[in-house]
Amino acid sequence: MIEATASAPSKFVILGEHAVVYGEPSLTLAIDLRFRVRLRYSDAFRVNGQTASNRNTSPHMRYLYDLHGGKPVSAYVESDIPSGSGLGSSAALSVAFAAALQALEGQPLDRAAVAKDAYEAEYYAQGRGSPMDTSTSAAGGGVALNMPHRKEDLLWTISKEDRTWEVSRFDTPPMTFVLGNTGIRAATGPLVDKVRRYRESNSFAAGIVDEIGDVTRDGLRALRAGDLDELGALMTYDHKLLSILGVSCPELNSLVDAALPYSYGAKLTGSGGGGCMVALTDRPQQVAKAILAHGGTPYIVHTGVPGVTVSTREAGQKQRHRGRGHHGEKKNVDSRR
Ligand code: MEV
Repeated sequence: MIEATASAPSKFVILGEHAVVYGEPSLTLAIDLRFRVRLRYSDAFRVNGQTASNRNTSPHMRYLYDLHGGKPVSAYVESDIPSGSGLGSSAALSVAFAAALQALEGQPLDRAAVAKDAYEAEYYAQGRGSPMDTSTSAAGGGVALNMPHRKEDLLWTISKEDRTWEVSRFDTPPMTFVLGNTGIRAATGPLVDKVRRYRESNSFAAGIVDEIGDVTRDGLRALRAGDLDELGALMTYDHKLLSILGVSCPELNSLVDAALPYSYGAKLTGSGGGGCMVALTDRPQQVAKAILAHGGTPYIVHTGVPGVTVSTREAGQKQRHRGRGHHGEKKNVDSRR
């Protein structure tokens, strides 16, 4: 029996969250916190060994299972990504499941198809949002949405209702980022809704969303010029714009303030309301210390990481082989499923 293993990275947003939902540009980087899944067809739906009816799995998994014909599968999952922290944990889950299900059907990895399926799963679960997180997790590295790009850097295009997002790759100069987690979990959907209501009812808020788009375009120019002072200043300014939109919180503001003396710039990252902030710095240890001293959890992140990866193996054969030769290992594998 075939077993498929997939691993998908999380991400943070350099610039552009929330505005990207309305077709404005974004700049994101995949990071070395990953979600991993191992899948095989089974007699019942199982997650980490626990029986779960199809309807009781997460909506993302449910959508993807149904998309692939609804055959029962046994999944073993593990994640390095704190959930509700703005790092795209549900996007990484959706990307890893989409890739593993493709592989179980014997298809070669098709990142564009994975990005599209995973975005649909996110949309099904959240009812709103952009393909930014899912595309970054599928592609890895640096990913831009709706930015001017060279023809060869275009990865794929995703459309939903009346919006289209062009997803492209961008190169980054060497940069160091530190994340600070407030530890406050905040769901993306209600924050996206809050901005939508504000934007629809108020032309001032709509202007702020447009301005985030301009700041993000300026950010790509700064990145291409290797101008970290300018990029940092734009990030800090973007934090102010996001605060005006009502998606920051005192804890995020406190971590941003704490990081700024040692940083080019800092801002919340992701949907806000809690979760993480990010600082661009060449003094990561000082920033990490300042974040810790203000009650946050720092991560000095590694970027330039691969997007989704997938592999398959003949699980039955190997396990039979292991069962004969290494009984302990077989038991271990089964108990983690
Ligand atoms: C969440 O990581 C980013 C948001 O822009 C929502 C989205 O793009 O779907 C807030």
